[in-house]
Amino acid sequence: MSGSLESFMQVVADAAERIRKWVKEGAYIHIFTHNDADALSSCGIIAGALRREDAAFKARSLPRIEEFFQLLDEGYVESEYILFTDMGSGYLPELKRRVGDREVVILDHHAPAEEALPYGWSHVNPHQHGFDGATEISASGVAYFVAKAMNEENISYSPIAIVGALGDLQDKDSKRSLRGLNSLIVDDAVKNGLLATYDDLILYGRNFRPVHLALASTTSPYIPGLSGQESACYNFLTSLGIPVKNGEQWRVLSDLTSEEKEKLFNGLIEYLVARNLPSSIANELVGTVYELVREDPWTYLRDGREFATLLNACGKTDNAWLGIAVAMGARGEVLEETQRVLENYRAQLARSIEYVTKPGVIEQMDNIVVLKGGEVINERQVSSVASILSSSGMLPRDKPLIAIADAGVAVKISARASRELVERGLDLGAILSKLAGEYGGRGGGHNVAAGADIPAERILRFLSDLDRIVGEALSAAG
Ligand code: C5P
Repeated sequence: MSGSLESFMQVVADAAERIRKWVKEGAYIHIFTHNDADALSSCGIIAGALRREDAAFKARSLPRIEEFFQLLDEGYVESEYILFTDMGSGYLPELKRRVGDREVVILDHHAPAEEALPYGWSHVNPHQHGFDGATEISASGVAYFVAKAMNEENISYSPIAIVGALGDLQDKDSKRSLRGLNSLIVDDAVKNGLLATYDDLILYGRNFRPVHLALASTTSPYIPGLSGQESACYNFLTSLGIPVKNGEQWRVLSDLTSEEKEKLFNGLIEYLVARNLPSSIANELVGTVYELVREDPWTYLRDGREFATLLNACGKTDNAWLGIAVAMGARGEVLEETQRVLENYRAQLARSIEYVTKPGVIEQMDNIVVLKGGEVINERQVSSVASILSSSGMLPRDKPLIAIADAGVAVKISARASRELVERGLDLGAILSKLAGEYGGRGGGHNVAAGADIPAERILRFLSDLDRIVGEALSAAG
């Protein structure tokens, strides 16, 4: 492992102690989180841990930290005890200035702004202990370690921490497996009979969708011509001689024999090569499956990646509370409602992806590729569209993708870099943090995935500066 587990666990213990002290004092704790799967998972874990202690709390998901400051200005942050999950580390100086007189716990994995902490604050961030917050642990993992330090029974949340890490695409080790501190969480979950891991094809709806629909529903990676195309997938499978039905019954992925799975995999490679798409896309379709064995096999909760998509759908459609409730453990009607939210979200995403293929939507600049989502792509969903597209092989891998969508007076930016660019030293999070600040906006994130909000009237100048800076960074790296 790359970092110091001992120093990380020390701050974890300090944060757990502070939260326990709050609970003892009868504090009313206000949790703020971001709106993606990792955010809702991390919030669900901490909220679940607080509920176990009978603590009083409320939780709120925000698309950006700006909205926290707005709530603060409007007097809506009444609690003296504030807990951030999946946000906060990048904005320490401003947080200190604005809420330095309150008690604060930050559980995050974004690159932190180096700052001394005010009295009464705890900050748990893997980067400060030599761990990579982009690939070794996510906010959910941080929340999990703190929850477990509060009460061993919170090991029950280990699968949710894995869901958060998968939602943040941290499965970057060989065979799409999790590594670093995440692998300690996987061990906890497996040892406690909550999780099974095995190698297989990674298709969406593996346990309950007819296999052609599972292939059509798979968007990570995105396979041009098959993702979102049900009849094309049906024809593709039958052309390979893989029966889609057994009598009257549709076959699901788990019904396929190993020979049929191999045939499917080889067929996909041939499909990609024939279309001049990188065959490496197919490699993303095999790897480690994370199965939440206590969940019903007929739900999206059984597979870690599908669970993460469900949470993303909630967070990106103003239904974050549903996702937080499911991450905490709610099922029944709440789960049914999230499944409806998911279907709508997937339909919206499919429309956005279709829009992207229209002429003029994608513009090649010298060093970046710009996806102009305008008002068509919802600003909350532009990040999902960016992630899907960057896994599609349709875009050049030697330029980062900068996806933009209108968000009123601001423009929302979601940036993604390929593994090759990151290996060459490109750090989109650092670039966007600095440049967005210079343009009166806010930005940050990781080397592979970063984001920013920029005043709308300055976007063209911003993009041309970004294009130049990315070019300089890449030529300096050689
Ligand atoms: O929104 P999106 O998923 O594209 O963001 C990618 C990463 O950048 C996330 O980790 C997010 O928290 C971070 N980000 C940020 N500041 C912003 C926008 C995004 O730190 N203004």
